[in-house]
Amino acid sequence: MRLRMATPTGWRREGNLPAELTSFVGRTRLLANLKRHLAESRLVTVTGIGGVGKSRTVLRLAHQVRTQYPDGVWFADLARLQDAGMVKHTIASALGIADQSSRAESESLSEWVGDRDMLLIIDTCEHLVQGCAELVHELLEAAPNLKVLATSRQSLHLPYEQVVPVPPLVVPGDDPTENLFTNESVQLFALRAGAVVPDFQLDEDNIGAVAELCRRLDGIPLAIELAAVRLRALSVEQILGLLADRFSLLAGASRTALPRHATLRAAIGWSHELCEPAERLLWARLSVFAGDFELDAARFVCSDGRLPSEDITDLVTGLVEKSILMIRSHHSGVRYKLIDTLAEYGEEWLDKLGQAQQMRQRHLEYYLSLAQRSEDAWSGPRQIYWFVRMRQEHDNVRVALEHALSSSMRSGSALTLLASLWFMWVCCGFVREGRLYLERALEANPSPSKERCKALWVLSYVRSAQGDSEGALAAAEQCSTEAVRVGDSRAVILASKMQGTAALLQGDLQKASALLGVAIEFNTDNKELNPGLLPAIVELSLVLSAQGELFEAESLLQDCLQVCRERGELWVSSYAQWAMSRTRLDTGRPAEALHNAREGLRIKRHFHDTLGTLLVLETTARILIALKQAPTAAKLLGALQQNWRTAGLPQMGAPFLTDDHDACVEDCKSMMGELAYKNAFENGARLDLDEASTLALGDLDAPAED
Ligand SMILES: Nc1ncnc2c1ncn2[C@@H]1O[C@H](COP(=O)(O)OP(=O)(O)OP(=O)(O)O)[C@@H](O)[C@H]1O
Ligand SMILES: [Mg+2]
Repeated sequence: MRLRMATPTGWRREGNLPAELTSFVGRTRLLANLKRHLAESRLVTVTGIGGVGKSRTVLRLAHQVRTQYPDGVWFADLARLQDAGMVKHTIASALGIADQSSRAESESLSEWVGDRDMLLIIDTCEHLVQGCAELVHELLEAAPNLKVLATSRQSLHLPYEQVVPVPPLVVPGDDPTENLFTNESVQLFALRAGAVVPDFQLDEDNIGAVAELCRRLDGIPLAIELAAVRLRALSVEQILGLLADRFSLLAGASRTALPRHATLRAAIGWSHELCEPAERLLWARLSVFAGDFELDAARFVCSDGRLPSEDITDLVTGLVEKSILMIRSHHSGVRYKLIDTLAEYGEEWLDKLGQAQQMRQRHLEYYLSLAQRSEDAWSGPRQIYWFVRMRQEHDNVRVALEHALSSSMRSGSALTLLASLWFMWVCCGFVREGRLYLERALEANPSPSKERCKALWVLSYVRSAQGDSEGALAAAEQCSTEAVRVGDSRAVILASKMQGTAALLQGDLQKASALLGVAIEFNTDNKELNPGLLPAIVELSLVLSAQGELFEAESLLQDCLQVCRERGELWVSSYAQWAMSRTRLDTGRPAEALHNAREGLRIKRHFHDTLGTLLVLETTARILIALKQAPTAAKLLGALQQNWRTAGLPQMGAPFLTDDHDACVEDCKSMMGELAYKNAFENGARLDLDEASTLALGDLDAPAED
């Protein structure tokens, strides 16, 4: 099967900058200043009130300077993150680091950054200043070529920090010599107006009112954008008149100008009033989502007798038209997002309405049902869709989990949610996070139950993926004991599978073969194809290969690949391809082995499967030795050493893999000679994972260069 290739985020050099969705206006001097500060300081923090344009300006700057950073410009958004303990994790996942190991996160984060020449942008730090400051300090100390650009309503209070305030846009009158038509606030209004009323033009008739409106709104971009939306129903003069009435009411008897943050609040409040009551209620309710969400989710979470589910689509459209909601189109469909400052406003309303708890509960219920659906669908033909979808839902899943774990009454739901999402933790790059949550939820639910048994085998699976075979074994044994006690035969079988996996990692082949055999034998109803039966078959084939029973291993794998093909399953099939490549290599068929390894690699790219890719590359290096292409093998060995450093325990610490690896290094050296080997190895060590995969997928028959 040939799939279109998508390069995973964390494997690329250029970074992960989001696109700019709307046109950008002015700020020439600020951008030049920022560039200068960035050249001189390692930490620049952009400060300013909400809605003034911190995030947007930084994004513009990032696009302008991206080519100056050979290792990319990386963007991490902390806006909706509530838990300070998750800052490191969020940044690591923005960088696409799927750390499989159980080491401390900051260690692998600093290690990953290492001597990379890169810019890290941390957007919206104000609610997590302490945590951000500590992490930034640690990273800057460990990584000599790293620069950090943060946005925050307040500074990070680090001694070497360069703080750059973002003022509002220049408003008409600030500079008496300026032409009103080219003033930046006026420009912004005109651009946004043009999006609402396509034939809107600035002219001599309306320029005075537009200029006055921008002055009234203090040049705050968000306030200007919200006002421009009203052109749908009103003229500029009418907007100005209404705004003036409202502001003088708010300023009260003092008649003094409103302070800037009050201007923004007033502008938001005004937009709020412009909404229908039902839209307002929806705005408040939508604030329970973290980041973006699908229409379906809004329909489920936010509807009730007062907001019928069939009205939600129209209400969402209304909020989009009023610039309250942003639309984002993704491969997987359209998603919506509340603008940050507006989400905060909605949250306050929701609290005032006394509906916050009820909405959080509905949000949790939605994610419980989504988790169930995704688990059921995972092993089928839409696996890549679910991979993309669940990565998009990551922030929301976190919020749902935090809600569930915040009360002992709900911690059972946390267990269920976590266990259903086993594939998210193991296959979508969130191993460490899954482990942390699972351990927390299990601690909160100490008495044996079916839910607990499932969470225990999931924990075992997650720990195996980290190469922590002892921890994996402990969880699987615990699962087995409790499953017998509660009479859960399915969990007994899965516990056996997970014990077998741990035994394989520990190099106890006999034990692995017996336990995996039991898991396969008793899996009669085929319900647990994945993660039970199919991975058990792949692992048993690895055991058989290691024991020299190559014919049996190959026929098992053929059956497994057949089932995967029938189901449209890709994740396990990529591992089966890897196992097949090992078996075929061992039976002296390196060309066929290379074909299998490449099939495996191609699939793994879709899943950003760091661990799996490293395993396949290990085998590819061995295949190349057999094909007498030692220089390329040496390059791959260099890349492997470098990339295992941040991905976890080399060769997962499994003896059957480390033995192969060591033998491969020896063969390579003796074919090339120490010096040539060393050169090729060092060249390879500069390759990132994407480049190493490309090398393995490329034209390997070409003469090896370097
Ligand atoms: N120079 C600009 N040109 C065009 N649009 C802008 C500009 N500056 C800001 N905006 C728009 O104004 C709105 C608010 O800007 P932004 O989100 O960057 O504010 P912020 O300071 O980051 O706010 P918060 O503190 O809430 O995070 C956004 O819709 C943004 O696209
Ligand atoms: Mg912002």
